[in-house]
Formats: sequence, structure tokens, C-alpha cells
Amino acid sequence: MKILVIGAAGQIGSELTVELRKRYGNNNVVAGIRKTPPSEEVKNSGPLEIVDAINKDEVERVVKKYSIDTVFHLASLLSAVGEKNPDLAWDVNMNGLKNVLDLAKVYGFKVFWPSSIAAFGPDTPRVKTPQTTVMNPSTMYGITKVAGELLCNYYFQKFGVDVRSLRYPGIISYKTLPGGGTTDYAIEIFYEAIKKGSYNCFLKSDSTLPMMYMPDAMKATIDLMEANKDKIKVRTSYNLAAISFSPEELYSEIKKSIPDFKIKYAPDFRQKIADSWPKIIDDSKARQDWGWKHEYDLPEMTKDMLEKLREKLGQA
Ligand code: SER
Repeated sequence: MKILVIGAAGQIGSELTVELRKRYGNNNVVAGIRKTPPSEEVKNSGPLEIVDAINKDEVERVVKKYSIDTVFHLASLLSAVGEKNPDLAWDVNMNGLKNVLDLAKVYGFKVFWPSSIAAFGPDTPRVKTPQTTVMNPSTMYGITKVAGELLCNYYFQKFGVDVRSLRYPGIISYKTLPGGGTTDYAIEIFYEAIKKGSYNCFLKSDSTLPMMYMPDAMKATIDLMEANKDKIKVRTSYNLAAISFSPEELYSEIKKSIPDFKIKYAPDFRQKIADSWPKIIDDSKARQDWGWKHEYDLPEMTKDMLEKLREKLGQA
């Protein structure tokens, strides 16, 4: 396998690159980065290239140089930052994906591309959100996710591009910070609990959202890509779920380890985004088709996050 990860300095890319290198060999996984410097682990463990997805020639050069057969295209602007710069979100999220799919058509490589719970909108059923349902997202990020899903399906049907996708929930991790999402509170809260013992939350206490711990997100992504082609029945994007919780529920879980931890709620513009997203996703199609199963529940995720972050912040 010769793999290219575009967005290898991002929250998911930085962990996925390392995981893929462990599985398929360091030299078989090229980390594609842009302006954000990669982690030391990514930088020191294998090949590194500058790859801006909106520059098709740049992507093509790297695909040819390494004879790439699989691309994980993760570069994207998230929901909150996308609302601040909708033009850039459209450009990076849509044109970047179209360039990758166009090159996949020519070079025959396999593609992973992440969609999100943000592909759903205020008209979507918010509990047990079905695989196929009303989408109508209200953010530019969500619009690029729905359009991207349709584009993936189109390239599969029309040109036979083997493109696979997951609708990620909010991903919780301790290694690399996410860049401007609505679910980011669920990471910030851990840093502030350890560093300050208090947190000012930008969502309301009862804003339940679908979430997932990074090891489960890694497993889902790799399992989907390793599944036999005939098992993949959905070529837009699969609903994917693990746990759902509200800020108050997460706070209570952290408080079990840090009894003096305090929280205040000061919802900002991100509340409206959260209110337009599902609370609990039905991912039975992924479970049926290619055997998806999550491992981490809320207590296990919280315990591991606190342990790893304490180590990282030198407070173990
Ligand atoms: N975590 C993302 C965000 O909040 C959702 O895909 O934007």
C-alpha cells in the first residue's frame, strides 16, 4: 500500500498518519501538510510533503512521485470557523474534494473522505437519526458535507471511483487540538478542568450531541477502508455513532475525578449550530454492512482523556 494523508497536521490526520504507519510501514504513508506544522511524531516517522488540496497539480505531483494507491483526504474547515469564512470553507472543502476525486478517476486510487453530523440540519429527526433522511444543513460546513457526499456517490456510480466515507460525530482527542468546531467544547473542558479547575462552556448545559473517542474513530476509518468492496453499500456516507452526551453529563463525569471542578454556561453563536444537529445517530447500517462496533463509553473515554492529558500537561 502507498498511502497519502492530506491534512496530516490536523486533529484526525495527525493520529491517523501515525496509526497507518504502524500498520502498513512508515515509508508507505506520506504525510501531506500545508501551513500548520505537523507533530514531531508525524514529522519524524516517515515521508512529508507539502500538499494543498486546492492545488490539483500539487496533489498530482505527490500521487505520481510515490505511486499512491490510497488517499485519506481530511483537509477541511470545520463548522464554527466555516461560519466566519464561508467562501474559504466552500473553496477548501468542495474544490479540494473535487480535485482528489478527479485525480482518483485518472490514477485509480481509493479515497477516504470524512462527512459529519453537520450534514444534517434543523429539519432532520434529532433522535435515532436515520441513515437516509432529510438533510437541509444550515451551516456552510454542513452544505459542503452534503454536496461532498453527493459528489462521492456520483464519482462512484459514474466513474467507479472507490470512495468511502463516514459521518463523524464530534471527535474527542488529546494529541492535537481540533480547528474551530462546535463540538470542541468536549476537548477544551478537559484542558481547563486539569489546568484551572473551572470551565466556561460555549454551549448550554443540555446540548446533547453525538461524540466519539479518537481510538474508535481510527478503528472505524481503518475498518471501513479495509472492508471488502462488496460490503460497502453506501457511497454517500455512513452514519457513525458511539456515545451521546450533554455538557452537563460530561461535567458530572469529570467531577468524579476532580470533585472541585466548576462549570459556567455562556452559549455563543455555536449554540445555534449545535441546535441544528442530531442528538443521537442511528448507525445500524454501518454495524450491519461492515461490522462497525465502538469500544469507548463516556466513563472509559473520560478516564483515559484525564490520564493522558495529565501526562501531556505534566500534571500526572
Ligand atoms: N466536530 C465538527 C464540528 O464541530 C463536526 O463535524 O464542526
